[in-house]
Amino acid sequence: MMVFNSARNREYGNAAPVSVGVRAIVSLTRRLAKLFDPQEALPPLLKKLTGLGFLFLTMNSSCRSSCGLAFSIATRQKGTNLMTQPLNWGILGTGMIARKFAAELKDTSSGTLVASGSRRQETADAFAAEHGGRGVPGYAALLDDPEVDAVYNSLPNGLHAEWAIKAMEAGKHVLCEKPMACNAAEAESMFDAAERTGQLLVEAFMYRTLPAVKTLIEMVQGGALGQVKLIRSNFSFAREALVSDARYQASQAGGGLMDVGCYCVNLTRAVMASEPTDTACFAHLHEHGVDDYAAGVMRFGDNTLATFTCGMTVANNWTTYIAGDDGEIAINDPWLGDGTFTLNKDGETQTVGAKTDTPVYALEAEAFAEAVAGATPWITREDTLGNMRVLDKLREQAGVPVPD
Ligand SMILES: NC(=O)c1ccc[n+]([C@@H]2O[C@H](COP(=O)([O-])OP(=O)(O)OC[C@H]3O[C@@H](n4cnc5c(N)ncnc54)[C@H](OP(=O)(O)O)[C@@H]3O)[C@@H](O)[C@H]2O)c1
Repeated sequence: MMVFNSARNREYGNAAPVSVGVRAIVSLTRRLAKLFDPQEALPPLLKKLTGLGFLFLTMNSSCRSSCGLAFSIATRQKGTNLMTQPLNWGILGTGMIARKFAAELKDTSSGTLVASGSRRQETADAFAAEHGGRGVPGYAALLDDPEVDAVYNSLPNGLHAEWAIKAMEAGKHVLCEKPMACNAAEAESMFDAAERTGQLLVEAFMYRTLPAVKTLIEMVQGGALGQVKLIRSNFSFAREALVSDARYQASQAGGGLMDVGCYCVNLTRAVMASEPTDTACFAHLHEHGVDDYAAGVMRFGDNTLATFTCGMTVANNWTTYIAGDDGEIAINDPWLGDGTFTLNKDGETQTVGAKTDTPVYALEAEAFAEAVAGATPWITREDTLGNMRVLDKLREQAGVPVPD
């Protein structure tokens, strides 16, 4: 059993089988506990299942890991015919992305918003009136809510780790906004908490659940472009630089690299299915103390060079180009997506479509529910940590402050 221990998971992090098993049993036990009054006689089969869950939770951690692994392998060997259960969501924060997530959660069959926590009761109430569920005063109160199964952490970057860890310790799964944390070490401590508590933690890179992005990655990795030589990825927008916006606060790990550069780094690493061997980065420091725009280069092995640009005070550019010796893919908007991209090959331009009627944050919520049920998350622990390590390096190279 030693070869499957958590150190190995941390190293390669591809499927986190231990956590998957723990998660499934914890989730099953909690659901059964909610469904039935403990004073009532349970049907014999349910009693056995509840008992199994209890036994599992009282085992020591190495014993739990072994069972988790066995459970995970059994699930996967059966072809992962996953039964997603309805998830009761709680949202931390009521800002811009919380509003989008709450609105699109209504388009899922797997999730219901039951509560939203805000620093101010009136804000929480107004959010609840618009999106449903209850308005809860404060983030701690949301985590105390027994009805909440999964928390969507939409707080500023600098608050991700604190509230994700508290949520998992309160027995909630966590979908945490990108970038996962202020730095890679902090992100690792969050995944350690996920492993310790048996809860699911996934970084909310929603664009990776888009069918077009999945198809693009599969095509490049399947050799559609021959040998990949150049990747050019961009994500910039222009809006007023307000001191009140956490994006402009160094203490909240704001800045263009963290806000949108993280997508370019993530997509490039996903296409390459590897980590860069070298990086270089320059950034412009805004008077508020964070990078408002930046440009970087990543080298993968000996063959592929990837450039990216990002910015928060620069006209929109959301394009990505991936060029090999046998063709090029151009995608206008991989981040929110119109569902198509073009393949330029053999002198012809072909539009590749992978449209979906489901909006992106709904796709993400569905993918999260599947991961709670045992599927491999669309962004794994190792993917998140790889991205965070690159972001740490780029910020260091560009002279951008990295909060401890
Ligand atoms: N995946 C995506 O598409 C996407 C898009 C945009 C942003 N994001 C990420 O989502 C997170 C939030 O971004 P956002 O644009 O939604 O930000 P936002 O509009 O400023 O909302 C953040 C919320 O966090 C709470 N908060 C607690 N302490 C705060 C502080 N010191 N300063 C500001 N807000 C504070 C506030 O909620 P209460 O007042 O209710 O407590 C606020 O409404 C960031 O991590 C960002 O990178 C993701």
